[in-house]
Amino acid sequence: MNNYIINNKANYDLAYAESTENPVKFWDDIASKNFVWEKKWSSVVNWNFDKAKIKWFENSKLNITFNCIDRHVKENPDKIAILFEPNNVNEKEKSYTYSELLTEVCKMANVLKSLGIKKGDRVCIYLPMIPELAFSVLACARIGAIHSVVFAGFSSEALATRINDCDSTLTITSDGSFRGPKTLNLKCIVDDALLKCNDKQKVLVVNRTQEEINIDKNRDFLLDDIISSVEDYCNPVLMDAEDPLFILYTSGSTGKPKGMVHSTAGYMVYTSYTFKNIFQYKENDVYWCTADIGWITGHSYILYGPLCNGATTLMFEGVPSYPDYSRFWKIVDKYKVSQFYTAPTAIRALAKQGVNFVKDNDLSSLRILGTVGEPINEEAWNWYNENIGKSKCPIVDTWWQTETGGILISSIPGVIPDKATFATKPFLGIQPLLLDDNGDEIKENNKVGKLCIKFPWPSIARTIWGNHERYINTYFSAFKGKYFTGDGAFRDENGNYRITGRVDDVIIVSGHNLGTAPIEDAINEHENIAESAIVGFPHDIKGNALYGFITLKGMSLGNKKIKSEINELISKKIGPIAKLDKVQLTSGLPKTRSGKIMRRILRKIASKEFNSLGDISTLLNPEVVDEIINNSL
Ligand code: WT7
Repeated sequence: MNNYIINNKANYDLAYAESTENPVKFWDDIASKNFVWEKKWSSVVNWNFDKAKIKWFENSKLNITFNCIDRHVKENPDKIAILFEPNNVNEKEKSYTYSELLTEVCKMANVLKSLGIKKGDRVCIYLPMIPELAFSVLACARIGAIHSVVFAGFSSEALATRINDCDSTLTITSDGSFRGPKTLNLKCIVDDALLKCNDKQKVLVVNRTQEEINIDKNRDFLLDDIISSVEDYCNPVLMDAEDPLFILYTSGSTGKPKGMVHSTAGYMVYTSYTFKNIFQYKENDVYWCTADIGWITGHSYILYGPLCNGATTLMFEGVPSYPDYSRFWKIVDKYKVSQFYTAPTAIRALAKQGVNFVKDNDLSSLRILGTVGEPINEEAWNWYNENIGKSKCPIVDTWWQTETGGILISSIPGVIPDKATFATKPFLGIQPLLLDDNGDEIKENNKVGKLCIKFPWPSIARTIWGNHERYINTYFSAFKGKYFTGDGAFRDENGNYRITGRVDDVIIVSGHNLGTAPIEDAINEHENIAESAIVGFPHDIKGNALYGFITLKGMSLGNKKIKSEINELISKKIGPIAKLDKVQLTSGLPKTRSGKIMRRILRKIASKEFNSLGDISTLLNPEVVDEIINNSL
């Protein structure tokens, strides 16, 4: 990749102008010069936002793993592709060169084939952050199977919902996972999940923690039993540009998660190009993104983006606090990491522990820092800048979404300067705009509006699996002809964007995108609960935490056990990440005359902004507001 490298402001301005004035030529060039295609496209982009029909590089043929692996094996077979740092400090690290990665991915692909998986089949991957997770993802892509990675912290019910929604027939998991001092029996969770699935299911089990597991001889296969007898090369299956590459579920404003579908060619071009420029990757750099591959960040910026560029990407199995809070910095020191990409919630948690955990580690290899997942507050930004970057590493605050596939707004080191708490400028080809509630464009500086994008970019999601109507309604209906992000933002006098947060019923807790609806649905299954409303409130470490307002069937039941029962239900239905920090019992919830819960008022109360509740006189039951304020936590 040596074309269109953006390395100064003049260069960016020129390229940005071209990318928006002549996107066809711009992306045609990027795609032609930087990737290997079996067959070129007949058109660069075809789109209609009203119908949410978007196609890039139509009729081209390629395989993304050929671009991520094989071509680098030819040029640089012994370069390290993946570094693996295990959770347990006494376990030896591992590394895989590009040539070894090819073999591992091919072997895994052959295992999948031996289990009957073929192009277009859905494969659910429920694994900890171990190398086999990377191999599984890439093995699916090698043979054209559609991977659906489910974060291994999700509960069995959440897993079952995802398996059933996309009709996957194989789940790849491990016996267990190591997380800090604990182990978790993942196979057990999969067994539970499959009780709720059809009988076409197979399970492939990776050996990780050596714990006892149940084996159903007709359904479960041990990877170790199969892999020794498969061939170590597998031809890449030719994919059409628009063939789905993967499904990744994200929460929405109804109980059902949305299976965002990403396509092959556009996703490859955009993730790869953004990686190269935003992280300014150089030949001998070691790049580390601390996300889990269960989230989009891991898909795009641990695996596909870096590997497509022939980078060395680090995978860490563990958590920042184990064996103590110096773990991240020890890893940076150990591998001489050059780019470090993490989430604001991790930065806040580490900052709280003090600089003692930082100081004995040599962080001088760091050149670029990154954040993603939620707005970063100024205090955390400064701590990161001073203590980790030693005030000499640019910080890229990268704004994007599961739906966007890649980074849309970010600074570029040495090109677009960073600015604390601002994501800054649109990346090449990205045309953001801010709209008011009437859909009129806000041109003034420093005025918050709804962030929309008016032209497609190559890695935009193509649909929601099995529900294109919902895709149209969620993203393309609020404002005609625009993609609506669900975020609020404003622009400063220099055109820098600052994201202010979600404007819908999605709450970002510790960087995890949680819909209020699925949590409320889970809670409402409690036999004593009549109704519930979940809102977010500011939290030092998590960014936001969850506050539940609950009405019981018969107030006499008000007991202390209710909070733990609610949290048990949530853990079971969704996963521990969605547990409530505060639970308040109330005799009623504030409602509009049409019966809609006024979450806006509850949000203010949860944030202790009692004086800015706005007009409550139009409520059906204004009297309940005083009661809620008086009992608020
Ligand atoms: C939502 C998307 C993109 C990968 C991780 C999250 C928020 C994301 C930033 C940022 C402010 C951010 C937005 C967005 N968000 N990055 N740099 N500054 N907010 O992916 O789970 O799909 O969540 O995360 O609200 O809409 P996701």
